[in-house]
Amino acid sequence: MNSRRIGSTEVSAIGLGGMPMSIEGRPDEERAIRTVHAALDAGVTLIDTADAYHLHADEVGHNESLIARALASYGGDTSGVLVATKGGHLRPGDGSWSVNSSPDYLRSACEASLKRLGVEAIGLYQHHRPDPKVPYADAIGAVRDLVDAGKVRMAGISNANPEQIRQAREILGDRLVSVQNQYSPAFRSSEPELALCEELGLAFLPWSPLGGISRAGELGSRFAPFAEVAAARGVSPQQVCLAWLLARSPQVIPIPGSSRPETIRDSVAATELQLDPDELAALDRA
Ligand SMILES: NC(=O)c1ccc[n+]([C@@H]2O[C@H](COP(=O)([O-])OP(=O)(O)OC[C@H]3O[C@@H](n4cnc5c(N)ncnc54)[C@H](OP(=O)(O)O)[C@@H]3O)[C@@H](O)[C@H]2O)c1
Repeated sequence: MNSRRIGSTEVSAIGLGGMPMSIEGRPDEERAIRTVHAALDAGVTLIDTADAYHLHADEVGHNESLIARALASYGGDTSGVLVATKGGHLRPGDGSWSVNSSPDYLRSACEASLKRLGVEAIGLYQHHRPDPKVPYADAIGAVRDLVDAGKVRMAGISNANPEQIRQAREILGDRLVSVQNQYSPAFRSSEPELALCEELGLAFLPWSPLGGISRAGELGSRFAPFAEVAAARGVSPQQVCLAWLLARSPQVIPIPGSSRPETIRDSVAATELQLDPDELAALDRA
């Protein structure tokens, strides 16, 4: 498996997104564990999760606990796996999402994530989403303090615009290693953030890289060139999409969500798919 860098840590060029295993439509635990194990078998060393990936109000951290159990029950060595979690988003249990970036809340959320993941320090802790009620500098300052207290090894931000990325960089310095924003064939407006990540040497983790849980299956029918390249190569349009994202920039590390072993295996194979310039140009125009 090809690798890329998040800060000083080498990770697989494709990560596993944990969200589909814990929110609406999630599989049973046995299938979820098999999915994580299939990812590890395929060489995945980056798993993206969040305390907010759960369904009911009383099961905050469902996905973090699931990932921790899957790692603990895996037969092989998991010491090189980077688990990237997030804080600052909440699910009240009615299907909605809310935010809280108050420094007190972020501190307590991080403590709870540490316990669920069963680690002394979180490998990558990402501020999940700006909270309009809390100055961004206060939220990011809280993340900086968590790194300095040894609770977090590396810091990331998510759903941030270029101004916020620059502000976070100022506050966090080298502690800031990644930005996680939406980016897919259907959603390309994070180009300026990606360009800034290239300038600053930050990893860029596109979320919902296939268009999101409910639309990932339609990728080929919505974007014909992805289906055409896929047919010519004998692979899935989703695999073509991930190879296209990898070719966008060396900073890009897609984190496709998965709830089945077959899909994460198929996604990982994108690291071996070299698209030629004509194919990439057609996909850029799609
Ligand atoms: N920071 C944020 O605000 C934010 C927001 C959303 C998501 N995220 C993160 O980003 C990750 C990815 O986003 P996402 O899960 O929303 O959407 P996505 O990755 O665009 O789509 C996920 C769906 O794609 C399907 N899939 C995956 N690989 C496939 C393949 N090779 N062929 C066919 N289908 C495939 C999966 O189906 P099966 O379920 O059948 O396997 C899964 O349900 C999330 O899991 C989460 O970790 C972050």
